[in-house]
Amino acid sequence: MSDTRFSKNILCIGAGYVGGPTMAVIAAKCPQYKVTVVDINAARIDAWNSDNLPIYEPGLLDVVKQARGRNLFFSTDIDAAIREAQIIFVSVNTPTKTFGEGAGKAADLQYWELTARNIVKVATSDKIIIEKSTLPVKTAEAMGRILNANEKGIKFEVLSNPEFLAEGTAVSDLEKPDRVLIGSQLTPEGIKARDEVVEIYANWVPDEKILTSNIWSSELSKLVANAFLAQRISSINSISALCEKTDANVSEVSRAIGMDTRIGNKFLSSSVGFGGSCFQKDILNLVYICQSYGLSEVADYWERVVLMNEYQKRRFVQNMLKVMFNTVAGKKIALFGFAFKADTGDTRESPAIDVAKQLLEEHAKVVITDPQALNNAKIDLAAYADKIEFIEDPYEAAKGAHAIAVMTEWKEYKALDYKRIFSGMERPSFVFDGRNILNHEELFNIGFNVFPLGQPNHKHF
Ligand SMILES: NC(=O)c1ccc[n+]([C@@H]2O[C@H](COP(=O)([O-])OP(=O)(O)OC[C@H]3O[C@@H](n4cnc5c(N)ncnc54)[C@H](O)[C@@H]3O)[C@@H](O)[C@H]2O)c1
Repeated sequence: MSDTRFSKNILCIGAGYVGGPTMAVIAAKCPQYKVTVVDINAARIDAWNSDNLPIYEPGLLDVVKQARGRNLFFSTDIDAAIREAQIIFVSVNTPTKTFGEGAGKAADLQYWELTARNIVKVATSDKIIIEKSTLPVKTAEAMGRILNANEKGIKFEVLSNPEFLAEGTAVSDLEKPDRVLIGSQLTPEGIKARDEVVEIYANWVPDEKILTSNIWSSELSKLVANAFLAQRISSINSISALCEKTDANVSEVSRAIGMDTRIGNKFLSSSVGFGGSCFQKDILNLVYICQSYGLSEVADYWERVVLMNEYQKRRFVQNMLKVMFNTVAGKKIALFGFAFKADTGDTRESPAIDVAKQLLEEHAKVVITDPQALNNAKIDLAAYADKIEFIEDPYEAAKGAHAIAVMTEWKEYKALDYKRIFSGMERPSFVFDGRNILNHEELFNIGFNVFPLGQPNHKHF
């Protein structure tokens, strides 16, 4: 039975990086709705019910505290929550398939399908089901079939409402989105369901930013948005390699091209590579879909974006090796940052994982420091635990090191006392700035040999 104290009962299945923040913002903005978030992971739900949230996101705890216990609830009682809800967002994980047909590229839809089957099993009334997870185009068709093949006479309308938030800025992205996209079938039932979801967002998002579209465009737009964003990073990273050969400076090239309003200045910073749970998996998913429709040229085109990213990570370590006299065996190397980007503790697909593994293969002694991601780093590198040190304090991490490699653009790293760091390091001392965030000239003057990405290096020998 629905909770009649509220005008809508909204449920989100999956309390992860997307489900948690998205629902917290809906609940904070709309006290008239009851918002419940459920997950099979009880520890995660416990954490959402504490002040020690399971994910780090600036401003998130304040938003959660504003609504938790009032109209925002975190629970493991999935079935009761399904029965109560009129609108269900599904935000479970959709990783790359690791087995069988499409392994390594296609999306693994098992969590989504299990969720859909459970909804059918326990539901006792009609519901709107919203794809919040990123899914292959045409998934809604399959889900609609599974959901509506019930003998209880219950009707499910499947909508697509992909999430465009970026980790690290999730709260502000949700409070002030560039746009909200809601895709539906263009039948009268589809449009009615779509309007109900538009009504939720209209509580705080201006009308002109709420886009509606056909359901396939909505599903595909999310994959395409991530493919375009990742493509910009791979594009500028490809140019960083050319800059290093030609004495051009990739930051200057970025600035010059980014001021062209047709290009724009975002996502044009060269780095050791993109990471995060989405870019690679979503592009590979796009590649797989193109291949399955026989569009091999289109598939190859997008696959290059991922291959360029692999190249950039490899190139970074190869350069370290070359510069450090072709061996890092036995040398201590401090990785500054492990999160895939600043302001998050998320390390999924972080380039630092590959860099650490490659350095270990070269028998380097790896030390990892990060203000938010050390716990995740320990999980990612559990198989190498005896070969790596995890140290919270960057000064301690750099003690006795031959090199520092900046992996994450944490602003803390710009403000460190590098004279103090230099005094405790081995000579010659190296800095490899995989994010181009440090003051290279200042570091050179202290005595470091500095190797940025795509920029002339500063060395004393
Ligand atoms: N992380 C991002 O920045 C981001 C941004 C936009 C879209 N997305 C997409 O959103 C989706 C979720 O991503 P995420 O980063 O939040 O993942 P996540 O792994 O952090 O969270 C998913 C949660 O779903 C739970 N879950 C899995 N199966 C379940 C089931 N049957 N019942 C209940 N809970 C279940 C898991 O325990 C987990 O807590 C993915 O499709 C992703 O591509 C992610």
